[in-house]
Amino acid sequence: MPSYQRPPGTQDILPEDQPYWNRVRSLSKHLAELAGFERIDTPIFEATEVFARGIGQGTDVVDKEMYTFVDKGGRDLTLRPEFTAGVVRAYIENGLHVEVKPQKLYSIGPTFRYDRPQAGRYRQFTQFNAEILGEQDPAADLEIMTLVWDLYAGLGFRDLEFQLNSTGCPRCRPTYVKALKTYYEKHDGEICEDCQRRLERSPLRVLDCKEEQCQPILEKAPRIIDYLCEECAEHFSSLREYLDLLDRRYVLNHRLVRGLDYYTKTVFEVWASGIGAQSALCGGGRYDGLAELLGGPETPGVGVAVGLERIIIMMNELGVKPPAPARPDIFLAYLGRAPRKKCLELMAELRRADVGVYFAMGRERGLRSQLREADKREVRYTIILGENELDSGKAAVRDMKSGDQVDVDLNLLVTWLRERV
Ligand code: HAM
Repeated sequence: MPSYQRPPGTQDILPEDQPYWNRVRSLSKHLAELAGFERIDTPIFEATEVFARGIGQGTDVVDKEMYTFVDKGGRDLTLRPEFTAGVVRAYIENGLHVEVKPQKLYSIGPTFRYDRPQAGRYRQFTQFNAEILGEQDPAADLEIMTLVWDLYAGLGFRDLEFQLNSTGCPRCRPTYVKALKTYYEKHDGEICEDCQRRLERSPLRVLDCKEEQCQPILEKAPRIIDYLCEECAEHFSSLREYLDLLDRRYVLNHRLVRGLDYYTKTVFEVWASGIGAQSALCGGGRYDGLAELLGGPETPGVGVAVGLERIIIMMNELGVKPPAPARPDIFLAYLGRAPRKKCLELMAELRRADVGVYFAMGRERGLRSQLREADKREVRYTIILGENELDSGKAAVRDMKSGDQVDVDLNLLVTWLRERV
């Protein structure tokens, strides 16, 4: 027989891991709704064009990492590598731009990138994503950043700070790119091959280079914030003022450029050590031209995506324990056919009364084996029903901690248990 394994870069999230996932999902949902975000669910796959245009040809995500396929109807489709492009497509297609502005939308779900798997980096991963569409105000950028800050604080993560930069807009960025290229031309022979290529295809990405030989050159490279137009500079300084006001710590990182092409003005990430080779807990920024690029009306936007797997690695690193999952506190054990039927009735009645209960499965099973199971399931009470108990109209109820046993009238059993669990 063949033995099967999950594909590289994917994970099985076992029952023991689920409390972590529940904690992160429910806290993100709670904080998003507290801030007036509404949930949107878009398809897991979209027309490839949505991502190719939205994220940009020439980016690693589009060129190397998309799970693209042709369906049986000949459509060119791609599993979403991120949410933003799909959410903006949905915003335009469903006419959300005529609704109250701004639209605040959040999503949680799987995303797919054909990345090189390693600790903290997967091919199927989960994002909590939030977008504010239809608003230029730097207060929107602040809200997005505050949302993730509150999430980390709520999970007990301390001493985090934003990496912050502005990437300007189509008006001021070309001047900067020109200055960057001119500067790099002077260092032509000293830079790595990748950077030589980047200068041709997407010059801003030279700022992201990790090669040692490029570091001294990078240190003295022109900084984009010195080239921002008045509007971008004003936007950036207001955002910084608001971040200071709310004590959301940040460091200016002149080399922060994001791997997706749609960004304008604000870009930010939060980094953490101990979550594997990839240290970004989240990333986001403003994308004022994306809606138009996807055929919609001019719509400024800003958003963020948080990688849930990395958060869960952090929780484990820091020893942050999620609440234990709710499990049934009662086990129904029996001996004989009639008691077994009575236990099935009791099972249904208890669950109707919203009381969780396990029923001992397996025909002709001895009482000892049933009690062993009850023990393993760590219930508080085991109900034991035999022919004698049925005749007398009373069930034996064993307190599994103390070992004490009492008889409880079968007619009162549900009420008795409800009061105690
Ligand atoms: P991103 O930086 O590509 O941004 O991804 C956001 C986050 O997703 C990362 O910070 C990381 O936590 C997680 N992530 C990315 N790739 C992987 C992977 N292979 N394995 C595990 N986790 C990963 C975006 O996706 C933008 N759409 C964010 C955004 C929303 N910008 C504006 N609105």
